[in-house]
Amino acid sequence: MSNYHIKHLEEYYQVYRQSVQKPELFWEEIAEEHFVWRKKWDRILSWDFSKPEVKWFEGAKLNITENCIDRHLHVRGDKTAIIFEPNNPDEGAQHISYKELHQNVCKFANVLYDKGIKKGDRVCIYLPMIPELAYAVLACARIGAVHSVVFAGFSSTALATRINDCDAKMVITSDGSFRGAKTIDLKGIVDEALEDCNGVDSVLVAKRIHSDIVMKDGRDHWLQPLLDDAYNEFTAVIMDAEDPLFILYTSGSTGKPKGMVHSCAGYMVYSAYTFKNVFQYKEEDVYWCTADIGWITGHSYIVYGPLANGATTVMFEGVPSYPDFGRFWQIVEKHKVNQFYTAPTAIRALAKEGLEVVEPYDLSSLKVLGTVGEPINEEAWHWYNDNIGKKKSPIVDTWWQTETGGIMISPIPFSTPTKPTYATLPLPGIQPALMDGEGNEISGNQVSGRLCIKFPWPSMARTIWGNHQRYKDTYFSAFKNMYFTGDGALRDEVGYYRITGRVDDVIIVSGHNLGTAPIEDAINEHPAVAESAIVGFPHDIKGNALYGYVTLKDVGESRNHDNLRKEINQLITERIGPIAKLEKIQFTLGLPKTRSGKIMRRILRKIAHNEVSNLGDTSTLLNPEVVQNIIDNAL
Ligand code: WTA
Repeated sequence: MSNYHIKHLEEYYQVYRQSVQKPELFWEEIAEEHFVWRKKWDRILSWDFSKPEVKWFEGAKLNITENCIDRHLHVRGDKTAIIFEPNNPDEGAQHISYKELHQNVCKFANVLYDKGIKKGDRVCIYLPMIPELAYAVLACARIGAVHSVVFAGFSSTALATRINDCDAKMVITSDGSFRGAKTIDLKGIVDEALEDCNGVDSVLVAKRIHSDIVMKDGRDHWLQPLLDDAYNEFTAVIMDAEDPLFILYTSGSTGKPKGMVHSCAGYMVYSAYTFKNVFQYKEEDVYWCTADIGWITGHSYIVYGPLANGATTVMFEGVPSYPDFGRFWQIVEKHKVNQFYTAPTAIRALAKEGLEVVEPYDLSSLKVLGTVGEPINEEAWHWYNDNIGKKKSPIVDTWWQTETGGIMISPIPFSTPTKPTYATLPLPGIQPALMDGEGNEISGNQVSGRLCIKFPWPSMARTIWGNHQRYKDTYFSAFKNMYFTGDGALRDEVGYYRITGRVDDVIIVSGHNLGTAPIEDAINEHPAVAESAIVGFPHDIKGNALYGYVTLKDVGESRNHDNLRKEINQLITERIGPIAKLEKIQFTLGLPKTRSGKIMRRILRKIAHNEVSNLGDTSTLLNPEVVQNIIDNAL
């Protein structure tokens, strides 16, 4: 029996038990049998959650791209590694074989080398979902540079913050991007960001939309001519197991975004192992994850996990609504997709369009359906199960985080019986715990609490770039000797987990994590605004939407409120990006505060949820009088 590939429920339980009883042995066997190493490890695991410090496969040497590319060349060199499906279906798809991937990545690595990029340097990648994005990521990994991919929907300010936080030397971008019927001027956004970034020496620009852009002499270089001239071999730089592979920023409840640092060996082993099991990938399958590589889902389950398994992975540049709402299903039919992985928000948006846009397509290739990013509601689950999976393709509701690097709790299809809205059981190696308010672990079933993980797993983030103390405070301080996820969960009578949502000030909108503080900071920059507070409220498609309570400096402010609302959303778009725009903005006389001056978001949340009958005792507030006024004017 191989631990690597679980095929039925009994096997899952057996493997799981082993993984908990002898975690080192469990991961050692997997690492030994399924990956190529330049040197094996001296030690499998050392860890101390109080520092916190975690090391996997210490002493081992490897390059992840040899595992994702080189080792496949002899066995499946002509197999398609990446299917690129462009925004405009008339453009036609590209099939990139493992051999071609190898050449493109090697050429790209030579370009990086020529531009002075060395092992350990940080490179910021701000690209649309085009093949160059995958090449750039893998070229960084091949040369040992730490990539920091920034989702190309973020604003110039958000981009600048991320470039500066990790001191990136280079930015890789494109002349623009296609998004449905629109184009976006990515290079313009980069130019604006770089006005505030002194450390960037060079910008590589891929040509995508053929727009007229300004190239800054000495700094900006067109990518294609450099690739054309580059040599198509590049010897992979040998990395230590614990060397950083990439940084990926995620929102916190307060302050700056957190640059989560992932390491080479552990991340590779875990993303590959979970890809194989959660999607039950078989050699001839075509797998498609609709995420953007700008998020962790794209890192682990478009690029690294699939390629480490020699899979064929689809990269889609466009949006689900272009040229019409049947696009996803048209792509499934066209490429005969076997595993399809998307977000609940996309499922809800597509369900709303009715079956007319689904029925014309042949979805019979589908074997496994996945969701990720936020809790999936029952209605969306059934719609997906009935109309897309035709009740024969199990849905894997996969719970995980940027910080965890890979899927943590999920059914294993054809083994674990699924249950709507439940992520079900922990994957091998994952030891969840539910904690109560006093810091005690809650045992038994039919309980709920705060979700923690009590033992390290290979792909956990090792630190926050430049701020280890924040890493400790955020994840390892709430509960002793536990990694705290920030999520609440319940465990049902058979031990299945259901994730109930964030328990901190992070709000998930359309699957994107948004911290309240940075958005409030952006609102407060408006000259007319005195203070603000935002909360989430349920939204049919986005899951949650943002409700902002804004107090103006001049309460009698005579300016048109609708104009102010537009200006506030414009500021948020500039500072963070359009994903953080507020759905509703209510102007208030004041915000409810405790005597110590803390805004009582609990009350604001209830008002936004229209649950005003049980606000609790408001008499202890500093300013109880504002509450009625807020209720009376609620939107
Ligand atoms: C939420 C995405 C319920 C959760 C991979 C988590 C989920 C946050 C699920 C991480 C799920 C993710 N069910 N909630 N299946 N998957 N979440 O960092 O709150 O973008 O903490 O990583 O999304 O979001 P992130």
